[in-house]
Formats: sequence, structure tokens, C-alpha cells
Amino acid sequence: MAIHVSLVGRKDLKGEVYRQLRAAIRTGQLRPGEHLTPSRELAQALAVSRSTVVAAYDRLAAEGFVTTQPGAGTFVSEGPAHAKREARRRSDSVLRSRPVWNAIELPTAFDRPARFDFRTGIPDASLFPHQAWRRLVARALRVAEKAERVYQHPAGQFSLRSAIAHHVGISRGIEASADDIIVTSGTQQALDILARVLLSPGDRIAVEDPGYEPPRHLFHSLGIRVIGVPVDQHGLVVDALPDRIRAVYVTPSHQYPLGVTMSLTRRRALLAWAERNDAAIIEDDYDSEFRFGDRPLDPLQTLDTRGRVIYVGSFSKTLLPTVRLGFVVAPRSLRLAIQKAAFISHWHAPTLTQNALADLIESGEFARHIRRANRIYRDRHEALVNAASRVLSDHLELVPSTTGLHVAALARTASVKQIDTVFSRAAQADLIFHRLSAFAIGGSPRAGIVLGYGAIPAERIPEGLRRLRRCFDS
Ligand SMILES: Cc1ncc(COP(=O)(O)O)c(C=O)c1O
Repeated sequence: MAIHVSLVGRKDLKGEVYRQLRAAIRTGQLRPGEHLTPSRELAQALAVSRSTVVAAYDRLAAEGFVTTQPGAGTFVSEGPAHAKREARRRSDSVLRSRPVWNAIELPTAFDRPARFDFRTGIPDASLFPHQAWRRLVARALRVAEKAERVYQHPAGQFSLRSAIAHHVGISRGIEASADDIIVTSGTQQALDILARVLLSPGDRIAVEDPGYEPPRHLFHSLGIRVIGVPVDQHGLVVDALPDRIRAVYVTPSHQYPLGVTMSLTRRRALLAWAERNDAAIIEDDYDSEFRFGDRPLDPLQTLDTRGRVIYVGSFSKTLLPTVRLGFVVAPRSLRLAIQKAAFISHWHAPTLTQNALADLIESGEFARHIRRANRIYRDRHEALVNAASRVLSDHLELVPSTTGLHVAALARTASVKQIDTVFSRAAQADLIFHRLSAFAIGGSPRAGIVLGYGAIPAERIPEGLRRLRRCFDS
């Protein structure tokens, strides 16, 4: 690619070309070994005579910045001229972000892998149906070569929307057609879109406390006021919901991070509350395809007769977070606005992965993958529950949970501070997990830990928990 040289005015053109190329070499913008644009081409691009560019190249060569290989061209040299290469000095910008961004941190939990990896939110990448995916992506590429030369519909590819409608019908009993589905780049973008559609700056949204952190930051960044509401063994405490709430964001199938399932009574109470308060409910059903116990409870969406529930699903746990695909099942009254919000947010998700995923679901490979992964996660869940009750029960009490990819454990006696100490000791034991206190919103974080089993094989779980035990004891 041609390096950008900007010539303002027509004075000392040779010197200007020389100085700008030298600066580009010094800052590393042009790297050692890189081919300089042929003098004829650069001269044409800059509307100067070729001799101007040749003179600049000659001077750079004389000073050792470039070398000329007859017949091949001019290359940035590897030599001592680069010893002095300076870091590119950009004058610091006077622009500042809104203060809200100071309070938000980029996720770092994914930076530190460990042999005994109990982090949540990570499915086992080795279970991903790579072979089928390669085949289907190749097929999607062939289709893309012939069609799809223009932007597609913001709701997502029709084939994927019908595949999702079919899938949620079977797996969650949700009655939906392709028209009810909007494909998004994961849950996070779905929530961004829904917040824009439903809430104005200053409006109040209720979220679970403890709860999933990224949506909180998202709402906050949009000027929406986030109100934490406690969670007990039956899920969100509906009686604790304050007035003047426009929307409630909940994880009823498998509360994140406590892992409890919202009881049917609570589900009904929440729907009744929403009706009384004219509020919307956003149901985040991120990992309930994996379940190891009784029949799952019906989603809020299927209990809702008033179109107050917006259901959000994700392929981040069933497949991989890097696939970045999720979806919304929208009530008819919101459908168009959600499509418009998807349009202004990202126009649409990449069609290549959408088409491949549609084929994965329609071919039955996706369901086969989930059945297989479910067996494997069931073994891990069992290994974790058994090992925890053998080696950790005097320190931790597991919160009963038979869904998804993590369980929470409450400290029997340890304080939040003591759990922090256990957490720092764990790093030395090649062990990683989450602290429950990290998910608190209000002033009273609970002492405990959260253990994911997506990223750790069953056979490593007992040793991991023995190490955790030693972190408590030492
Ligand atoms: C509560 C909850 N919702 C949703 C997700 C998935 O988010 P996304 O679809 O944006 O990857 C996660 C992932 O950890 C989660 O914990």
C-alpha cells in the first residue's frame, strides 16, 4: 500500500517527500524490509515530477534509511539508521470521553488462563463442532460469492431467523416465527438495542443484585438509572422491586451468578408486577440449554399473555462466545423499532456466520452438539458437586443448581475480605475462579465464590478443588 505523503504548497517538494518518508521510517510506520512505492507511481500520486521523488529516495539511500536493489525496487533498510527509531509521537488529543466511561473497565478476567480454570462464561472450545462448521462456512462463502452484494435486512438472515424460531420452539417451548426474531451480535448488543428502544435517559431499570456486570455498565452509559434488587433462593425478590421502574432485566433460568432458578410463583409474581407497573421484562436465557435435573421451568416469555417479556438468547455458551451471535424474540409491538435500532447499531450481523449457523441448526448438527456437550457438562457438574461436598463443605455451601455452566458457593464463615485472600492465594496454585462479591451492586456484597466448569475437564476438577481447599487453610 502506498504511504501517505501530504504536500501542501509547492515549495521544496524534494525535501518534503524526503522528510515525510524519513519520519515514517523512524516511527516504524514503514517497517524494515518494506517495499517503497515505485518512484513513478508515487510521483503520479503526488502530481510531482519523477525526478523529485527519485531525489528524495536517493537522499534516504545516502543516509542509510533505504536500499535500492536494481530491478527490484527500493526497500526500507534493516541497518543502523533504525537504531534511533522513535516511538511515534502523537500530540495528545484535547478530546475527552464522557465521565461515565471512567467508571467502566475492560474485562480482564480472560487474560489469565490457569490449569485449574473455574472461570464462568467459557464453554469448552474443544467441543465446538469444528468439522461441520468448516464445511458450512465454506458453503456460506460459496453462496456469498454469487449473491449478497448489498446490505441485508437488519433483522438478520431469514434462514437463521426461521432456524432459531424452530429451535426455541423445541428447546424452550417458545412460539415464534421468523418474523418475531431479530439476530444480534450476542446478548450484549441485544440489550443495547432493547435499552435504546425501551428506555430514555433518566429512566430506571431494575437488575439482579448480585448480577451480570456488562449490562449494568451498558445501561449506565446510556444514562439509564440502574437499581439493584436482591435475589434469594427463589430468584429475584419481586416484593423488593421499587416503583417507577420501566424495565426489569432478569436471568430466571439460571440466575447469574448465584445459579438459582426463579420459582414459578416468583415468575407469576414478576409478570403481575410488570402489569401493575406498566413495565417491560427482559429475560436473558443465556445458558439454559445445558440442564442436568428436572424438566426446566417455562420461560417467562411463554407465561406472558400481555407481550411484556422480551426474550434474549445467545450462542455464546452453546457454541462459542467468539461466534458473537445472539437473538431477540420480540413482541409484535416492538418488532419494527427493534429492527430500526439494529439497523442504526450495526446494520446487521455478518451474513457469513449467520448463514453457516442457520445450516448448522437446520442440519441437526447443532442439536447433536448440544446433546453431546450436555453429557460432558453433566459429568463435570457432578464431579464438581461431589468433590466440593467432600473437600470444601466446611468452608462453602453450594447453591443448588442443575443448569448451565457454573455453580455458586456461599462462604460458611469467611468474610468478603477473607475470600479476597483465598483468591490471591489461588493465583499461586494455578487456580482461577470468580468471587461472588465482584457481582454485587449494592452496599452488601456476599462472601462466596463462583465456579464455572466449561473450561475445565472433569478429571481435573477434584484436584482443583483440593487446591482451593488448601487456599482456605493456608
Ligand atoms: C448472564 C449472561 N448473559 C449473557 C451472556 C452472554 O453474552 P453474549 O451473548 O453477549 O456473549 C453471559 C456470558 O457470560 C452471561 O453471563
